[in-house]
Amino acid sequence: MKITVVGAGAVGATCADNIIRKELAEEVVLLDIKEGLAEGKALDMFQTASLLEFDTRVTGSTNDYSKTANSDVVVITSGIPRKPGMTREELIGINAGIVKTVTENILKHSPNAIIIVISNPMDTMTYLALKSSGLPKNRIIGMGGILDSARFKTYLSMELKCSPNDLHGVVIGGHGDTTMIPLMRLATLNGAPVANMLSVDKQKQIVADTMVGGATLTKLIGTSAWYAPGAAGALLVESIVRDQKKVFPCCVSLEGEYGQKDICLGVPVVIGRNGWEKIIDYKLNAEEQDLFNKSADAVRNMNSVLDTLTV
Ligand code: 2OP
Repeated sequence: MKITVVGAGAVGATCADNIIRKELAEEVVLLDIKEGLAEGKALDMFQTASLLEFDTRVTGSTNDYSKTANSDVVVITSGIPRKPGMTREELIGINAGIVKTVTENILKHSPNAIIIVISNPMDTMTYLALKSSGLPKNRIIGMGGILDSARFKTYLSMELKCSPNDLHGVVIGGHGDTTMIPLMRLATLNGAPVANMLSVDKQKQIVADTMVGGATLTKLIGTSAWYAPGAAGALLVESIVRDQKKVFPCCVSLEGEYGQKDICLGVPVVIGRNGWEKIIDYKLNAEEQDLFNKSADAVRNMNSVLDTLTV
């Protein structure tokens, strides 16, 4: 198994680091446009092999895509990150060109790869990768919902004073501050609905905190987060390469499911060796479906900006 991570910034490097610690592949390639960055981070990571006891080979490359040849899975993290006060959507002008070029270069050398998109605005970048590559829809997966769900569970666990690992909680819809939908009705603590354990005000607060989870970190750190985004990307890679068939909320192409089409948006999907294999229908209630439709409208609006760009 060979995995490439494009973008050796904080998210890409953390994702690669998680992948090698889990020994998900024989070989991991980290690629970046900045001279020496990927080589340096890859060498630093490989020097942890005898310390952390893993056998995955990790190498770096400055924009030489031939080094990524025959990758099974490729994670795209390239692009500029958010600065405090910026929305993910404001990155579209620069990141669209980058994601399109990266996707083309990757497919020249790894025509069978499954592609995971993390670059922001993620829902639109996933749609762009799908449309510009013409790949079968199951091989393009946007990673946002796993991260947003992890943040949802973190806020729930802090309020309920329980282990995040005893919680189930899913965020669907877009990966934007105003487009994501934490599904409080379906969140459980070891099977028991958490909505019965929290006041309505607390529930609203946790939903609101989850939605701006990324912005909160950007404000604190001065740039966008990386530990949880990188770990979330690696979890997705793991379910693919180990064919685990785990159900994760991921941004995928909808063709009528959840009442939407010609859009990539976050819904629960089964992830296995073929990429995303099946959409699970959570049977949203009217209120949740309304939020999902609004989220789709906002993402579709953002996707229409792609037509105005010369990418
Ligand atoms: C985040 O929410 C990077 O979009 C990512 O932190």
